[in-house]
Amino acid sequence: MCGIVGYQGREGARDILIEALRRLEYRGYDSAGIAIWNNGTVRLARRQGKVSDLAEAIGDDGFNGSMGLAHTRWATHGVPSERNAHPHKAADITVVHNGIIENYLELKETLKEEGHTFTSDTDTEVIPHLIASLLSKAGSFEGAVRAALRMLKGSYAVGVIREGEDILIAAKKESPLLVGIGDKEFIIASDAPAIINRTNRFIFLEDDDIAVIQKGTLRITNLDGDEVERETRSVQWSGAMAEKGGYRHFMLKEIFEQPRAISDTLIGRIQQEEGEILFEELDLPDITKVRKIWMVACGTSYHACLIGKHIFEANLRIPVETDIASEFRYRDPILGKDDLVILVSQSGETADTIAAMKEAKKRRLHTLAICNVLGSTLSRECHSVIYTHAGPEIGVASTKAFTTQVCVFFMLMLYLGKRLGALDNDDVRRLIGELRKVPHKIQTILDASSSIEDNARENMHYRHFLYLGRGINFPTVLEGALKLKEISYIHAEAYAAGEMKHGPIALIDENMPIVFVSPRDQTYKKTCSNMEEVLARKGKVLLFTDDTRHDMAGRVDALFVVPESIYELQPILSIVPLQLMAYYMANLLGTDVDQPRNLAKSVTVE
Ligand code: AGP
Repeated sequence: MCGIVGYQGREGARDILIEALRRLEYRGYDSAGIAIWNNGTVRLARRQGKVSDLAEAIGDDGFNGSMGLAHTRWATHGVPSERNAHPHKAADITVVHNGIIENYLELKETLKEEGHTFTSDTDTEVIPHLIASLLSKAGSFEGAVRAALRMLKGSYAVGVIREGEDILIAAKKESPLLVGIGDKEFIIASDAPAIINRTNRFIFLEDDDIAVIQKGTLRITNLDGDEVERETRSVQWSGAMAEKGGYRHFMLKEIFEQPRAISDTLIGRIQQEEGEILFEELDLPDITKVRKIWMVACGTSYHACLIGKHIFEANLRIPVETDIASEFRYRDPILGKDDLVILVSQSGETADTIAAMKEAKKRRLHTLAICNVLGSTLSRECHSVIYTHAGPEIGVASTKAFTTQVCVFFMLMLYLGKRLGALDNDDVRRLIGELRKVPHKIQTILDASSSIEDNARENMHYRHFLYLGRGINFPTVLEGALKLKEISYIHAEAYAAGEMKHGPIALIDENMPIVFVSPRDQTYKKTCSNMEEVLARKGKVLLFTDDTRHDMAGRVDALFVVPESIYELQPILSIVPLQLMAYYMANLLGTDVDQPRNLAKSVTVE
């Protein structure tokens, strides 16, 4: 999973490409490279390591030009190294690529037999060689690119340039790619935040699209060369939004953005007076026929589904089955012909979730995406979509996407509840009222973040944590544990609190803090009993609750109180101190919070 960018416009391609790469680094950052076209010649530089290493290496000497390509890599084929870094060049063709060419070995063998020599272990390197081998037969650069793409199996987002021709070609299949339309310049990129500082007008390429950028003009065709029309969309993300806004890390900025992200996700959709929810982009089948709803995702988005299940089943009384996308896609799920499949993804590019969507569509089921990235694959290929309006989420650890996903589930429950007769206008008005209070309640938690930081400093030396919660608090602790482990590298696991006696209680001693999420809800008394069991074994309890008079308040090692809300919305509040605790521990430990080791922001490969 990598980040690609290409530019054609005025002079100064190098700085524009390097800046874009810096914004793409969360997509992958084990090596980087750049190619600059200047009056027909192409100069190329690649480095293992981060974009800053590449920028330092090329300095200012001679890397000027009006067109170019650049790439930041997250290795899938071939170890991170300079020779495996992109761009890859063969003859006079230079290419950057994101995706996986599944038939690269057979193509490579054929090309070798034709006399081509390869210098890398990557699948990508076959692309420039293949294009070069087709130039004479195709009769043109564009024709050769089109012919080569037709021979590729798998996924690609590519940028291609050729010495001697002032043409930039971009193409996409399954991996994301967009064309930014600037002032006398065009920029191709893997996603919008990379180039939002240059333009907010984008064309999101569809599968098999080829964009040909030549002397200030843009033409989009399909693989057969027929021109296709694509809508130009404007994304209201200022450049500043995609920057850190004064925070030390994107993750902290995004935690603190949650009040606004949730407000933005509600705007235009809640009509409290009318007791109505509006989803302009929703196009569902007859919901009264639905006998079962599926919620499918990966990682944090899967945890949002687990909460969505509680929200839906408590109010709609329709069975909900949740599944991890990488399980769903291979277990031949038993799907009813009228089932509704909801797929959740912040990026809209997660390979397993997209594959699950395709499996559902193959079974002719209605697919609904809950997604944060406009124009992403999942959002375009599902039958309908509801966007979270969280704004760009750059930090690898998902935060505001999660809380806005839960808000969308809550609004969707209200929308469906009205149509199923499970909720009347008064119910919806009351529940909308509770939802509208959430942004302010989160703000009060954020205003008390220093006490979380103090708590993190006290506990950051522990190497193991256990997170426990019951009912809707169980997915909350799953998410809290994921936050801690993925950015601090501290081992953290979550269990349904009622499961303690079935194994985890053996782990409890003074060396492992136990995090409890225990609001005063229907699970409260039983969770207090679990805390007693932990304290009896000298366990250290960190209690997160909505009740200042919690029965265990005076006996635990740490207590953090969040505002109370209704059962279905409480997780949005309970998760915020857990996000902050994970962040502060990681920051104090000095890990790379925004780009944790081994992780990428969007897992676009299996
Ligand atoms: C969450 O903090 C992780 N970065 C990861 O689990 C993520 O939620 C998962 O990869 C799914 O990503 P998506 O929402 O973009 O599909």
